[in-house]
Amino acid sequence: MSITVAKSAGFCFGVNRAINIVNSLLDKNVKVSTLGPIIHNMEVVNELESRGCKAVDNIDEVEKDATLVIRSHGVPKYVIDKLDENGVKYEDATCPFVKKIHNIVANPDNKDGIVLIAGNSVHPEVEGIIGHCSTECHTFKNSEEIDEIYNIVLKKNNKRVFVVAQTTFDTKEWKKCVKKIKKLCTNAKIFDTICNATSVRQTEADLLAAQSDFMVVIGDRHSSNTGKLFDICKRQCDNTVLIETADELNANQVSVAEKIGVTAGASTPARIIKEVLDTMSEIKSGVTNGEESFEALLEESLKNLNTNERVMGT
Ligand code: F3S
Repeated sequence: MSITVAKSAGFCFGVNRAINIVNSLLDKNVKVSTLGPIIHNMEVVNELESRGCKAVDNIDEVEKDATLVIRSHGVPKYVIDKLDENGVKYEDATCPFVKKIHNIVANPDNKDGIVLIAGNSVHPEVEGIIGHCSTECHTFKNSEEIDEIYNIVLKKNNKRVFVVAQTTFDTKEWKKCVKKIKKLCTNAKIFDTICNATSVRQTEADLLAAQSDFMVVIGDRHSSNTGKLFDICKRQCDNTVLIETADELNANQVSVAEKIGVTAGASTPARIIKEVLDTMSEIKSGVTNGEESFEALLEESLKNLNTNERVMGT
């Protein structure tokens, strides 16, 4: 019997930073609004709401005395322009890795080219990237969609092609896409903008799922990176589940599992991961692995988990 918690499970740098920005404003009794939920995790959003942080859908809804926090996904340039024009106070918590993509696609030197973005066109991060492009842009989700763009757009002109990726894009799919682009567009300039935290998390999840007979992915169902982690794990371990909280754990699945792997999305607080592990421990209580009990194995695995992150006024 074994339990392994991925070292990369839980909050990434950008999410932690965004939440810290909101918390420090709330600490100073500043009225805070966020443009959309600050992260894709309702537990965290509800906790911040209980401290007075209000998620709005539109910048016109921001109250005059409030400070708007732009979340780590970033926003299109016109949103920043509108905030400046309307004199709305704001703090930009756009992750620096997302900002780097904005700078690439906004570069005026690329003006006569075509930007290709690997990602989901309706994801807020990709909407933000599109909104910073200085030139024509197209999005694709996989290598098959590159063929379509090539046949409809790229084949008939000689424009320089610039390629970036959503920070949480699937690293395996990205490799396939890069290969295809290099074959079709020999003049393409490719920027690998997948966040290192994402690639490390996905690689670790891939390896861990391959060694597990029960794989648990913890995260919000609206979180794109959590969804991708689930897909990656499911490819390796058919017995993979995606849960948002400990309540969703199936006791039967836990009790019969021999090799349990656990990972979590970038917007999953350590507290929720810990609750899931504690619940597993309760289900497995008394079960031993030769000399070592499940609790002892869990204790060892928990050393990897950063439980010092701050979620709510702590
Ligand atoms: Fe930033 Fe990477 Fe997280 S881009 S928001 S550190 S997944």
